[in-house]
Amino acid sequence: MNSRIVSTGMYVPPKVVTNFDLEKMMDTSDDWIKQRSGIKERRWVEPGETTLSMAAKASLQALERANLKPDDIDMIIFGCLVSDYIFPGTGCLLQKELGFTRTIPALDIRNQCSGFVYSISLADALIKSGQYKRILIVGSEVHSTSLDKTTRGRDVSVLFGDGAGAMIVESCDNSQSKIIDSELHSEGQYAESLAILKPSPNDFPRLKADSGPGAEIYPYMDGKLVFKNAVIRMTEVMKNILNRNSLTTKDVDFVIAHQANMRINQMVLNQLEMPFEKTHHTLDRYGNTTMATIPITFDEAVLLGKIKRGDLVVFVAFGAGFTWGANLLRY
Ligand code: UT7
Repeated sequence: MNSRIVSTGMYVPPKVVTNFDLEKMMDTSDDWIKQRSGIKERRWVEPGETTLSMAAKASLQALERANLKPDDIDMIIFGCLVSDYIFPGTGCLLQKELGFTRTIPALDIRNQCSGFVYSISLADALIKSGQYKRILIVGSEVHSTSLDKTTRGRDVSVLFGDGAGAMIVESCDNSQSKIIDSELHSEGQYAESLAILKPSPNDFPRLKADSGPGAEIYPYMDGKLVFKNAVIRMTEVMKNILNRNSLTTKDVDFVIAHQANMRINQMVLNQLEMPFEKTHHTLDRYGNTTMATIPITFDEAVLLGKIKRGDLVVFVAFGAGFTWGANLLRY
């Protein structure tokens, strides 16, 4: 028994926020953002759009494209940085929103930018074990309301955007189209190098009514450390997964890399001596949507005909934790 990707779906809010719009909020420039990251614009939610509503739209598109109904799904794996509620997880909310009548399990994972490669690895293992036949994986993220949009937060806030991506993975015995292998890592010594630290249940009291918003309620990132590790780890994990499957980069038809920074992805491909045409980017238009970048970028590459059934594809991601990993698959 193997597992394969049946369909994908994606959603980004209609509101476009350009680098020029950000120039009006903080001391930054279109040139700086484009040169350092490759981002030109991103999408931000407006009141009424939520992590859940975006997740539902992306999921419904994936279901429709596969001609499936919610009750054809055996499990939901959901991931985001900041969920709609502190608890329960948005996976359960999604189950309600989509109108599931079966009490299938809904699992929320917290692996940030690596969430999709972690989820695909998990879904593949659960399907291979025979426990479930069809799993819906969703990453959805509202960053825009969690960002420090002043000059203080400019190194982080210009990079992130809102959006959702979904993927349905199901069992198959077709040896042509399948998830071949996954490799996952984390290195907790860098947990605080990319994090939102507050509010924390370890504070007494957790929230102080008289204190204004301090920097710790916003994402903190040691940008240079994250950049350096992203290049090293994504290159390393791609080499590993290909080596142990007796493949080389020449065998790979396409790479879907996490969309954090165009320069990171360029460096990874250069080090692997892979042509830039073997990848696709959505970062320029959507920014970094954390767990949603892989399904959004894959979805677009498939629709554009850049990835076809039968192609050998690698997904690779790096993010907070630090966590990183790769999936190797025949689409
Ligand atoms: O998905 C999670 C993974 N995240 C990532 O992979 C992101 C990894 N890191 C990066 O992408 C890069 O480190 C950044 C894009 C965040 C920053 O690029 P950098 O080339 O490392 O710039 P820097 O942090 O060294 O900053 C250079 C200068 C600084 O000014 P000084 O000290 O040289 O005077 C910053 O204060 O740029 C300044 N700066 C900005 N200027 C204009 C920082 N952010 C901005 C900004 N606009 N938004």
